[in-house]
Amino acid sequence: SAEEAPSTDLITLTRHVLSDQLRLGSTATGDLTLLLTAIQVTSKFIATNVRKARLINLVGLAGETNVQGEEQKKLDVLSNDIMVNALRASGKTAVLVSEELEDAIIIEEEKRGKYCVVFDPLDGSSNIDAGVNIGTIFGIYKIQPGSKGTIQDVLRPGSEMVAAGYTMYGSSANLVLSTGSGVNGYTLDAALGEFILTHPNITIPPRGKIYSFNEGNAMYFHAPVTAYLKSIKYPAPPKSPYSARYIGSMVADVHRTLLYGGIFGYPNDKKSKNGKLRLLYEAFPMAFLTEQAGGIATTGTKRILDIVPTDIHERCPVFLGSRDDVLDVIKFFKEVP
Ligand code: AHG
Ligand code: MN
Ligand code: MN
Ligand code: MN
Repeated sequence: SAEEAPSTDLITLTRHVLSDQLRLGSTATGDLTLLLTAIQVTSKFIATNVRKARLINLVGLAGETNVQGEEQKKLDVLSNDIMVNALRASGKTAVLVSEELEDAIIIEEEKRGKYCVVFDPLDGSSNIDAGVNIGTIFGIYKIQPGSKGTIQDVLRPGSEMVAAGYTMYGSSANLVLSTGSGVNGYTLDAALGEFILTHPNITIPPRGKIYSFNEGNAMYFHAPVTAYLKSIKYPAPPKSPYSARYIGSMVADVHRTLLYGGIFGYPNDKKSKNGKLRLLYEAFPMAFLTEQAGGIATTGTKRILDIVPTDIHERCPVFLGSRDDVLDVIKFFKEVP
């Protein structure tokens, strides 16, 4: 109410993660908390650069192409460098995989820790120059017992991640995180420089009213996807059709899906055999968050988190969101030849 006293008890991300560890009676050493602190700093640093981009000549192309054949934007390269530097210096990492780097980085012995971080430093590159929401996605594995850090430590199913999250740079910077016991959302208080808990225990509504696909690819879609989309656009009365929302930044489209429900999809099609989104640092972290929020993430025929990667940059089809909506898609994959 209007008379409610202002809050004097802010729950910061670090405080929240620490209290979670206490509550679970964990024997954790605090290393994950320190790693998450380093990641928070990268998000704050990237956020300020995103805000200033237009003013400091940070928009436009960097002039190089990444391993996926995409033209790198200046902000892609800057965000990648910010993350590599901070994660290496944290002393908590052993292997780093970035969308923007062809090879994994194996951290030198003096700085080596026990975690591996896979990340998309700047997601939604095509939206940068228009000032539309963009983000950073990350997933964290623990190295295998006895390992000094090799690529094998990250060629593991997404279900083995110990934490995953993203930061969305929008009207505010929002960090959404799961360490395997639910999903929480934090908003950057720019004056304090802290991420404050604003969205405790995010749960996806079991059914939504929004679908989020790049339907510009419709002529290439396979029959089950075409039939599914038709079913939500031309439902049998008295049902009403779904609304379309597609930003083209996975972080922003998934963020909306977590909060409002509905379905986000990036299918494979007649042009791209495995779709577009990258398994390790796009599909896995978002699938992890989706499941932790009570939703489902599938390729259409298989749980995404069960996939065993064979290449750090491999791609996979993605359908994720509200349980009942994703179950509908799975049904079309079973029934439509
Ligand atoms: P990135 O900017 O990190 O390369 O990722 C782009 C991805 C993802 O953000 C988004 O969901 C998708 O590409 C959009 O692709 P289309 O432009 O083909 O719709
Ligand atoms: Mn890219
Ligand atoms: Mn991306
Ligand atoms: Mn990217």
